[in-house]
Amino acid sequence: MLGTGQRESRGVKRGYITDMEASEHAVRRSGRACRAHVGGRSKYGRGAGSLSSGVANVEVELGGHRIEQSDINELLSEGRGAIDRNGQVVLHAHPALYTIDGVQGVKQPIGLHADRLGVDIHVIAADAAPLRNVDYVIRSAHLGVRAIVASPVAAALACLTEDERDLGVALIELGADVTNVSLHAGGMLVDMQSIPLGAKDLTDDIACAFVVQRREAERLKCFYGSAMTSPRDNHEMIEARHMGSDEGAEPMRITRAQLMTVIRQRTEELTANIDDALKSLGFSGPVGRQVVLTGGGAELKNIADYMQGVLGRSVRVGRPRQLSGLPDAHSGPAFSTLVGLASLAASGSGDIRDLAAGTPGYKKPASGMLGRLLAAMRGP
Ligand SMILES: Nc1ncnc2c1ncn2[C@@H]1O[C@H](COP(=O)(O)OP(=O)(O)OP(=O)(O)O)[C@@H](O)[C@H]1O
Ligand SMILES: [Mg+2]
Repeated sequence: MLGTGQRESRGVKRGYITDMEASEHAVRRSGRACRAHVGGRSKYGRGAGSLSSGVANVEVELGGHRIEQSDINELLSEGRGAIDRNGQVVLHAHPALYTIDGVQGVKQPIGLHADRLGVDIHVIAADAAPLRNVDYVIRSAHLGVRAIVASPVAAALACLTEDERDLGVALIELGADVTNVSLHAGGMLVDMQSIPLGAKDLTDDIACAFVVQRREAERLKCFYGSAMTSPRDNHEMIEARHMGSDEGAEPMRITRAQLMTVIRQRTEELTANIDDALKSLGFSGPVGRQVVLTGGGAELKNIADYMQGVLGRSVRVGRPRQLSGLPDAHSGPAFSTLVGLASLAASGSGDIRDLAAGTPGYKKPASGMLGRLLAAMRGP
């Protein structure tokens, strides 16, 4: 990591760009702050709404011969053609497990004899118009877009262990105004849901309840907020500045218990929504044990303990793994997605659309995927 630049996000609501000019300005400012460090390129993280995920299945006839790399290539190129998301843009298409003569769950089919070879391709797609807006805003701020990545894919790479991703884990990204719930198993994202609630809702609730400015509400949340109440909260007094009060005016005083009532209400609602999402995604049984919380909202004190109690599962906070050069101030859970984006850019994606047709095993650089993505986004 050569440098970082962080500025307040603007013009975005629940993952959608709602004010081009404001968000372009915010991107420009953070890009400028970053270039001040490194004089070069920068990376911009944005969780777009409207993500969906699913599995496409394709099969080819082999007539009993031994499976070779060329059969796999043929299958994957068949798969590329089979991905159709009714007008949505495909962000990721990963070959998952192979099926041989109807037997599922084959990891490495090469060398086996079979009549039919199939593969499940996991696809993540997003609505075209919101993506086009993200692309437009970033380009207007004079930055280039090399690839668009679904944020749970990036966050998972940064803060889940390999074993968790393999054995089964739920990742909850508590963002500012969107909470993404994604399931990972067999090394990949298998399903996800977005909840239009996030950590900024806590701030807004506090601002409304005590009639303070958002900035002041944010301070109260981060310094005094917690997901767990304590009997001492009744005796702890907090000073806050009333909205519109003069500089020298006497601050108002509230108890920490009053603050906790507001925080608790929204945290309960959010946790109930997460519980519903986990249930509807079928996260249960022996795989449904481990939950990892990440995103800025996971910084709320005791949030993992609280959710562990309500969800009845083991819950931990996921911090991004260490990248060399990543400043300490950016090593908390709010930076998981960004660390994951940087790692993905450095490693290539393993996406089937990167396989050049007719060139066995050859992976085109990420720009190939981007070309297709942008072509799809811009339409015919
Ligand atoms: N100590 C803290 N306690 C509670 N919330 C916090 C704390 N620190 C940061 N947050 C919250 O985390 C949120 C920012 O998280 P993050 O950077 O993951 O969001 P984002 O990716 O910008 O948003 P989204 O994913 O919704 O588009 C803010 O709402 C902020 O108030
Ligand atoms: Mg986010």
